[in-house]
Amino acid sequence: MKIYHIDSSARKAESVSKSLAKLLVEKIKKPEDTVTYRDVSSGLPFVSGIKGAGFIIPENERTEADKKLFKISDELVKEFKSCDTLVISAPIYNFGVPACLKAWFDLIARNGETFQYTDQGPVGTVTNIKKAYLLIVSGGVPVDSNMDFCTPWLKQGLGFLGVKNFEVIAADGLSRDPQKVEKVKEKINSL
Ligand SMILES: Cc1cc2nc3c(=O)[nH]c(=O)nc-3n(C[C@H](O)[C@H](O)[C@H](O)COP(=O)(O)O)c2cc1C
Repeated sequence: MKIYHIDSSARKAESVSKSLAKLLVEKIKKPEDTVTYRDVSSGLPFVSGIKGAGFIIPENERTEADKKLFKISDELVKEFKSCDTLVISAPIYNFGVPACLKAWFDLIARNGETFQYTDQGPVGTVTNIKKAYLLIVSGGVPVDSNMDFCTPWLKQGLGFLGVKNFEVIAADGLSRDPQKVEKVKEKINSL
């Protein structure tokens, strides 16, 4: 497998989502597998200066800032299209995904790269990802409840690009039940 491991918590060593994702990757990884790691919590720009839907700025109109934007976008798209297994860890922030994870998605959702406009509407063209693990952590919001705009958004966004097979691992409501982390670790270890 070619595993692409993405973390998005703003915390480092204290992060529950990062530690659970690390455990998950260790668990699913076979000796012959490769892992590409990306912490999107720092350094990603927000998309700006776009001239059309689907991440369009004609090459001859690109400023130096646009060129930098496309360079990082190209790098992220390449990583995304080079894996067969995706692991994304996301803490719920204000009912949704962390802004940095949205910024990452805005940089990879590109017409002609990860989806295509057709006569029938937009079609996802990412066929390399056979399985996506979504590791969702929250303080109080139950995953898949009507307050959770993180998990359904990730499924919708990635599904739009062509990812079809999801496994959600929820470490939710940790403020109420901190012991749940241990149960989630057991679940990961039993995969
Ligand atoms: C900026 C911010 C916003 C948060 N918003 C929510 C929220 O809307 N709902 C919720 O249940 N937990 C919320 N939390 C709690 C986190 O989801 C929880 O602490 C989680 O463990 C953080 O992940 P981490 O340990 O990987 O950093 C928020 C935390 C932060 C820092």
